[in-house]
Amino acid sequence: MGRLFETWNLKGLEIKNRICVPPMVCFGWNGDDGMATEKSVNHYRAIAKGGYGLVIQEATCISRQGRLSGDQLGIWEDAQIPGLKKIVDAVHAEGTPIFVQIHHAGVISSEEDRVCPSDYTVSHKDVEKHGRELTVEEIKALEEDYIQAVRRAYEAGYDGVELHGCHSYMLSQFMNRRVNKRTDEYNADDMLILKNILEGIRKVVPEEFIVGIRLGAFEPTVEDGIAHAKWLEAHGIDFINVSYGFSQDADPITPDGYPFAAAVYGGKCIKEAVSVPVFAVYGIQNGEMAEAALEDTKCDMINIGRGVLVNYDWANDVKEGKDPGKCLYCAKCLWRNQVEVCAGKVLLERNR
Ligand SMILES: Cc1cc2nc3c(=O)[nH]c(=O)nc-3n(C[C@H](O)[C@H](O)[C@H](O)COP(=O)(O)O)c2cc1C
Repeated sequence: MGRLFETWNLKGLEIKNRICVPPMVCFGWNGDDGMATEKSVNHYRAIAKGGYGLVIQEATCISRQGRLSGDQLGIWEDAQIPGLKKIVDAVHAEGTPIFVQIHHAGVISSEEDRVCPSDYTVSHKDVEKHGRELTVEEIKALEEDYIQAVRRAYEAGYDGVELHGCHSYMLSQFMNRRVNKRTDEYNADDMLILKNILEGIRKVVPEEFIVGIRLGAFEPTVEDGIAHAKWLEAHGIDFINVSYGFSQDADPITPDGYPFAAAVYGGKCIKEAVSVPVFAVYGIQNGEMAEAALEDTKCDMINIGRGVLVNYDWANDVKEGKDPGKCLYCAKCLWRNQVEVCAGKVLLERNR
């Protein structure tokens, strides 16, 4: 008997198993105002019925300037709270807890005026993007945007938040010394932006509110990822969801013959180094793999991303011993553009 369907507890929050739905943006589902639409509410309701221990809502932006695309969900103004609350209520109605991922894209933003800790140019999805260096006043305003976004998340009823600190976005840019070349107090080693954000958050939400981070294991090396995780633990972070860091400037590694992706290995290394709960991710395609990854990494949760997009009922199906189906890694994701022709979905339906 494995650990996948074990109940556990994250800072007082009862979690019915070790399967987490990681944040996944549904591009094109919301408007320029960042307000949650019925389509988003229904999507999260359907996921919540699928039997997961925890759902983390997609990257939700702290400002217009921080958007990766102009149709992302927003948490930058109080008027967005009621729409977000509809998502929370729909997920809670199924007895599932929900966190929201708090996001700013930094140099990868789709807006004209892109910012970064230091002047930096990145190639993202074949588009060259340049970010100008943030001034100290702008960093202070950015910190406040993160803090107020977390306050809104609390008011909307989420069980917790996950700061987006990986995948090349703003906090990843601050932590990666190959990107953040600042020589003032906001240099990569000092982690000052995270210190100020975490301290500010605790002034606007109660101590019991769960505040975690999605962290790059390789930022740029695994030694840096471990150091960041230890720093975050020492500064009160409640969980660490480990993934890839700033992809253009990172050195992912795995030992020879390691059976899982580098991000899973990163999760294992960070789990060994800290005592707070750690989540692992990447490329887990069925229940056996999920059990094996939990066993190998000793992590507290395993994320199932694309598997859930293919099959909302992934966790229930695995529990009942059914084939949950899998993402077929199409060169161009069909799910994103036309859900009903998603190859993994079509194959799953054909096999049933
Ligand atoms: C459509 C899509 C959207 C995603 N959006 C986000 C996001 O908003 N935030 C984030 O941290 N990761 C995002 N990711 C990455 C996933 O959370 C996950 O780490 C990745 O899909 C690997 O897990 P998997 O192999 O189980 O799919 C996204 C992935 C996909 C496929």
